[in-house]
Amino acid sequence: MTKQQELENLNKKWFVECQCELKKTATQAVSGDGNGDAEIVFVGEAPGRSEDEQGRPFVGAAGKFLAEMLSKINLKREDVYITNIVKYRPPNNRDPLPEEKRSCREWLLEELKIISPKLIVFLGRHAMNNFFPELQISQVHGKLLIKSFKGISTKYFFPLYHPAAALYDGSMREILIADFKKIPTILKQKM
Ligand code: URA
Repeated sequence: MTKQQELENLNKKWFVECQCELKKTATQAVSGDGNGDAEIVFVGEAPGRSEDEQGRPFVGAAGKFLAEMLSKINLKREDVYITNIVKYRPPNNRDPLPEEKRSCREWLLEELKIISPKLIVFLGRHAMNNFFPELQISQVHGKLLIKSFKGISTKYFFPLYHPAAALYDGSMREILIADFKKIPTILKQKM
């Protein structure tokens, strides 16, 4: 079976089994999307309105900015895999609650296990704190983190500010773009 097929089966299973309370208010689940053989997986927070409508992650304004940054390092969406820690849109885009993150966590871990990327890039503090609860995004954005987690083979993690937070904040935007441009060097040097 290819990784793509494994991911399809995984998502079919979790569409049924996921116990997340957000299922009651969301239009549909937004599972991960992209290349199952990717070297890089981007992990965001939760779907917004456009993602909830279309059933794909990062297709709204933040997604356009993400695609723009990918093109700066000569990558397209189809080259990477993009997912979220929470697979259902929280009402009015509020922050996901701890129990909502917990209900979707196993789904995310199984995705990461199948893809087994070289590098996991966190888009924003929610994604990073899901794995590194003790860290502050303002202190570690753009720095490579190395750690082993039970069940996933990836050891390299790279936290970034969330593209939505940087969309309308010029200085954060510049920082995010500069951090993003470090990705090819990290891949080359470390892996
Ligand atoms: N923000 C996220 O964190 N994820 C999405 O899919 C869209 C916006």
